[in-house]
Amino acid sequence: MDIDIVSVFPEYFDVLNLSLFGKAMERGLVTVRVHNLRDWTHDVHQSVDDTPVGGGAGMVMKPEVWAECLDELLDVPVDAPADADAAPSPGSPVLIFPNPSAPLFTQQCATELSHAEHLVFGCGRYEGYDARIPQYYRERGVDVREYSIGDYVLNGGEVAVSVMLEAITRLLPGFMGNADSIVEESYTGANALLEHSQYTKPATWRGMAVPPVLISGDHGKVDRFRRDEALGKTSRLRPDLIARLDCAALGKADRKTLMALGWEVSGAHPRRLG
Ligand code: ADE
Repeated sequence: MDIDIVSVFPEYFDVLNLSLFGKAMERGLVTVRVHNLRDWTHDVHQSVDDTPVGGGAGMVMKPEVWAECLDELLDVPVDAPADADAAPSPGSPVLIFPNPSAPLFTQQCATELSHAEHLVFGCGRYEGYDARIPQYYRERGVDVREYSIGDYVLNGGEVAVSVMLEAITRLLPGFMGNADSIVEESYTGANALLEHSQYTKPATWRGMAVPPVLISGDHGKVDRFRRDEALGKTSRLRPDLIARLDCAALGKADRKTLMALGWEVSGAHPRRLG
């Protein structure tokens, strides 16, 4: 996978050399190029932002600088005509802007983007970037995505890009040591639940014992215990995820557990009783 990142703080991404991501780069699984947006400026101050049109606080990132940079990275000709119905061609780069006022970035987005060959991330700063930038590239057939990583505001897109990048690249075949750990995780698959609690040795620590069934050696019972724990935890902490489950895909034991937790499971999706 080819990755370009554009930021006014390129050093922020030095951390990518660490850990599993660093190893993936060494092995050639991912190629990352980090660019300083200021390299595309022409003025002595290398300015990338200006005051908001219509008034308001803060500064907004200028379209001209971003466009010179993105034309080059996305290989879009300067004179390319606008086409409101332009569809991205398969295999072409996906342009991603983190933005607190955009749809939420989910595991499903990460999975979809892990199949792309080339991702280009643009990190906004200050009050954001001129809204014509994503529109311009969409109208030139680029697959442009804007995502928020959560309902809170950060100082800029760098942290959000790191989060998305990690969620996407760890899904690449060969990135993780143990591919099974991805299958078992929270938010994975159509019937996503929070993951069950995990324990390691010793079996008793400071007077606290692990649930005895986990050391019973009965794999069937262990699986059922973990599944029930995942259902209970999700019902308590993220009932919105339970309400999205497909009842037709639930087994008899899952239904029984959900009913005991106060859910009705006879419709298309579970409904909380009472
Ligand atoms: N930039 C600032 N806050 C953000 C958020 N929550 N998600 C994505 N990008 C952001």
